[in-house]
Amino acid sequence: MKKYCLILAASLPLLLGAQPQQDEQKINDLLAKMTLEEKIGQMNQLSYGDKLDDGIKAGQIGSILNIVDPAEVNRLQAIAVKESRLGIPLIIGRDVIHGFKTIFPIPIGQAASFNPEVAEESAAVAAAEARSVGIHWTFAPMLDISRDPRWGRLAEGLGEDPYLASVLGSAMVRGFQGKNLSDSTSVAACIKHFAGYGAAEGGRDYNSTNIPPHLMRNVYLEPFKAAVEAGAATLMTSFNENDGIPSSGNTFLLKTVLRNEWKFDGFVVSDWGSVNGLVTHGFCADQKEAAMKATNAGLDMEMVSRAYIRHLPDLVKERKVSEQTIDEAVRNILRIKFRLGLFDNPYVDVSKPSVFYADKHLQAAQKAAGQSVVLLKNNGILPLGNMVKTVALVGPMADAPHDQLGTWIFDGDKTRTITPLAALQQQYGKQVKIIHEKGVAYSRDKSASGIPAAVKAAQSADVVVAVVGEEAILSGEAHSLAEWELKGAQKQLIAELKKVGKPLVVIVMAGRPLTIQQELNAADAMLYSFHPGTMGGSALADILFGKVVPSGKLPMTFPRENGQVPMYYNHNHTSHAFRGNEKMIDDIPLEAVQTSLGNSSYYLDAGASPLFPFGFGLSYSTFEYSDLRLDKATLKQGETVTATVTLKNTGKHEATEVAQLYVRDLTGSIARPVKELKGFRRVSLKAGESTEVSFALHTDDLAFYGIDMKKAAEPGAFKLWVGGDSNAKLEVEFDLQ
Ligand code: NOJ
Repeated sequence: MKKYCLILAASLPLLLGAQPQQDEQKINDLLAKMTLEEKIGQMNQLSYGDKLDDGIKAGQIGSILNIVDPAEVNRLQAIAVKESRLGIPLIIGRDVIHGFKTIFPIPIGQAASFNPEVAEESAAVAAAEARSVGIHWTFAPMLDISRDPRWGRLAEGLGEDPYLASVLGSAMVRGFQGKNLSDSTSVAACIKHFAGYGAAEGGRDYNSTNIPPHLMRNVYLEPFKAAVEAGAATLMTSFNENDGIPSSGNTFLLKTVLRNEWKFDGFVVSDWGSVNGLVTHGFCADQKEAAMKATNAGLDMEMVSRAYIRHLPDLVKERKVSEQTIDEAVRNILRIKFRLGLFDNPYVDVSKPSVFYADKHLQAAQKAAGQSVVLLKNNGILPLGNMVKTVALVGPMADAPHDQLGTWIFDGDKTRTITPLAALQQQYGKQVKIIHEKGVAYSRDKSASGIPAAVKAAQSADVVVAVVGEEAILSGEAHSLAEWELKGAQKQLIAELKKVGKPLVVIVMAGRPLTIQQELNAADAMLYSFHPGTMGGSALADILFGKVVPSGKLPMTFPRENGQVPMYYNHNHTSHAFRGNEKMIDDIPLEAVQTSLGNSSYYLDAGASPLFPFGFGLSYSTFEYSDLRLDKATLKQGETVTATVTLKNTGKHEATEVAQLYVRDLTGSIARPVKELKGFRRVSLKAGESTEVSFALHTDDLAFYGIDMKKAAEPGAFKLWVGGDSNAKLEVEFDLQ
């Protein structure tokens, strides 16, 4: 029997050692030579395309975003290094979110892998490709917890759970930053958006958030804390205001939490124009006041809106901002420039061979895509067997090379995309005949005129594979939706295909959890691949034919009905918990007497259970969990309890299962979540093989911000479950003294 043991959150590594004293000395020496204007220049980031040469020469620009031409990077860098008075190099930033050229699955897809190695490797490949053109800094990972499928940006994040986002977000930081920021394959990470942006009211991007202090600490800030501990070099503030305070002017977040408590020593950048946003929020009367409030709150670098460069000189003269505050901001920025090695090696070596789409990058992208696919239903049709001679491949996403890459792929090249159509033809074309008919041209297309041809294709095939979902542009920034069922004529396409009566496999490529109850009923099997990136087609083809066995798990709860949202597994205990046997709307007699007896928190027309719980995902094999036990029933502060379970592959395929550990703190000084993920582990087993999986849970892993706003593990009783999703049934209890 193999043994697996997982060490939990308390031991997330502190990768960043103490900054060498020499750098601090160099920073101080440089600061002593800088004029106030030159210092403020370092705090100014502009976008490529603006007229920059004179500003760089005058020392008025510290950073540029959005240049990707290495020759141009070197030309501008040469102006900074050779022609500005102090020769301080520029830091070049870019949104490299899930790949630069080789595109990996969108982050919510990567989250479905429940695999920190996937997250780390995807970030490392993105970093190597981006740094090869002179990009030093990526605006990723996005660590905004989101519980709302309407919010288009959830595609860029790691789902609804703070622990999953902490583990994967930290892995991404490690992947981007490598062993040493100055390596030619590393970029500085920027954890964003600090804080609470994913809780936009109604899921409408940029909207207000209302996150109370305990929830902010216990859920929304957790992934940021973990990523700071993993050594994230920079952090970006968010556009939203929370309880009236916009993040770019939020002293509590930027000073009390980030600097004083977490000891963050990198620099903070605003989001695009979010210093000006302090004015549009009505938090400041004008741009000058915005520059003052943002700087004093601890926002070191301003992205594009030029409030700092215009107003900080006067604000310092007027003593509304101290020169010490400016020095602190500049020190933070220079520290990262030193760590990136920019003073020693400011230029990009254009003579090196291109690393774009290197074989190992493509292999990593394919592996990531394979692990990001979640099998939601299978009546036995998958994997496709030898009896299948003809496959009808239909749907708008079956051959959509741009759209399967997903949101935020500024530099990805769709001509390199392997779509399901291309992969099935190239990889399986000898063994099966593929008949391709789109049926619906693109995801929003309302025309049903192509459906008869798709139906005809289905009639002449042994199996129908329908690849449906969302175009890339339906998710991402400013792309929120009020309805998130399949768009256009796609629902009609699936309904018509169902009538043909051939086995129907539905693959969904989307940027969010779509409401798919109807399609699920129609399908014999359903795979949810999110937007799977450059190699998505190859990964899906291998899954269809069983070369790869699905192992992904849902990083978000999938509601049954749109009106159920927000819906997330780790909600607090309510006073009237849903039992599951409540009267539904049609059970209520006419003129029923109103009563509050036995009531619970649910919808008359949709209940309160999701379509799929967080953590859910099937395999071609089956797994059995048994014999859950603890090494102690009582735990003292500072101790570790080890939970061990026997996991058996009871099916016919070698497969990987993500074993998940959940905990409930039965009583707290504030109401606690009904369940919280505290550990997970991918375990590969041959057919019939068993193993013991152990999770070590330290009392620090049980700590939360209680009524007194202090983080502590509170004494009392706990329940603990281990299983294959958040509905895990094997349960034990322990006490914390
Ligand atoms: C605005 C987005 O909110 C942010 O995530 C991104 O990094 C910046 N624009 C820069 O493009």
